[in-house]
Amino acid sequence: MPFVRRLKLTDFRCYTEAVIETDDRPVVLVGENGAGKTNLLEALSYLVPGRGLRGAKLSEVGRIGAASAPTAAPLAVQGNWAIAAQVENENGVVDVGTGLQSTEQGGRETRAIKIDGKAERGQAALGAILSAVWLTPAMDRLFLEGASGRRRFVDRIVIGVDPEHAGALAAYEQSLRNRNRLLRDGNFDATWMNAVEDSMSRHGVAVAARRREAVSALERFAVDGRDPFPSLDVAMSGDVEAWLATEPALAVEDRLRDQLAEKRYLDGASGTSSVGPHRSDFEVHDARSGMPAAQCSTGEQKAMLITLILAAARMLAFQTGRKPLLLLDEITAHLDDRRRAALFEMLVDLGCQTWMTGTDPILFSPLGARAQHFSVRDASVEPQGFE
Ligand SMILES: Nc1ncnc2c1ncn2[C@@H]1O[C@H](COP(=O)(O)OP(=O)(O)OP(=O)(O)O)[C@@H](O)[C@H]1O
Ligand SMILES: [Mg+2]
Repeated sequence: MPFVRRLKLTDFRCYTEAVIETDDRPVVLVGENGAGKTNLLEALSYLVPGRGLRGAKLSEVGRIGAASAPTAAPLAVQGNWAIAAQVENENGVVDVGTGLQSTEQGGRETRAIKIDGKAERGQAALGAILSAVWLTPAMDRLFLEGASGRRRFVDRIVIGVDPEHAGALAAYEQSLRNRNRLLRDGNFDATWMNAVEDSMSRHGVAVAARRREAVSALERFAVDGRDPFPSLDVAMSGDVEAWLATEPALAVEDRLRDQLAEKRYLDGASGTSSVGPHRSDFEVHDARSGMPAAQCSTGEQKAMLITLILAAARMLAFQTGRKPLLLLDEITAHLDDRRRAALFEMLVDLGCQTWMTGTDPILFSPLGARAQHFSVRDASVEPQGFE
């Protein structure tokens, strides 16, 4: 638990309207390129707090050409969209709805959220019902690209444990932007700077402490990679994280505040802030060989990502008592037959509601009737009997 029993998409991406009904078994979505498979996973990712699996703008995911778009507008105008789900958990069935109701001109887009028909103000309400972890082809380069993708990866896991993390993170990022703006404007007014740096310190230490805690909880599950998937050592690295290892949080706040004040003129030269958890990284090594993830082969990195994602699912289940949704886009790519079969066994054992996509039904045949198979074609989803 929990499981999505029914999912309805309205004017979302390529879907005018689509409904999919599911039971406890893993869900396999098969279809040609461009059929709408990833869009379905993306829709599910909006059932949890955050910016969705593609990190897209809310107005971008509305169906191009939908009737709710302004009438006199050209075809490529996107309007309202909605995702509605029936989620079964230990207490029964909850109706969860989210979407974009209207795009205010020039205003900030916010996601509307309804739970059992009642409008909720914050996204944290979603986090109380469901959590999700996902793996997409875009994440294949997680270890090769900059640290921001790795921090986002960790932050999503932290939000799964503690939905309030999203708020602390947004507050930190806002105060960081404020400080950088003051630096670029050459405005070193002590009253402004002190206020902004105080906010950075408080939120920054909260962010770093939550990440540190979550990653050390994750470590216990990641070191237990199941053959043929590797065991991993994972850790957060960064100044604030290092201070937190030896000092209480309040002392670390003071230290960060002092460091920021000290570095004002130095940071002024670049217009960026050189200290704080926006500089931290998530480090991953093969536990047996000690090899850093970035130096492993493509297939090895994919296997590491699978260990990580499954460790995150186990960790979330352990910490929250709820199993997260697992959204695995094109999961079979780069996996040899042995790893693919082993992965399927692990997914069935894990008991999370797993949603997988692929272009070739043959690759999912080892799952047989242990999974529900759907065919996705021209933005519609049909159940497929398994022969
Ligand atoms: N806002 C939108 N409105 C309408 N269609 C969209 C919108 N955004 C994306 N699409 C279209 O939705 C279609 C399905 O995209 P999706 O990424 O789900 O395909 P897919 O089945 O995952 O394909 P692949 O196997 O290539 O990954 C694409 O043709 C895409 O151009
Ligand atoms: Mg896709």
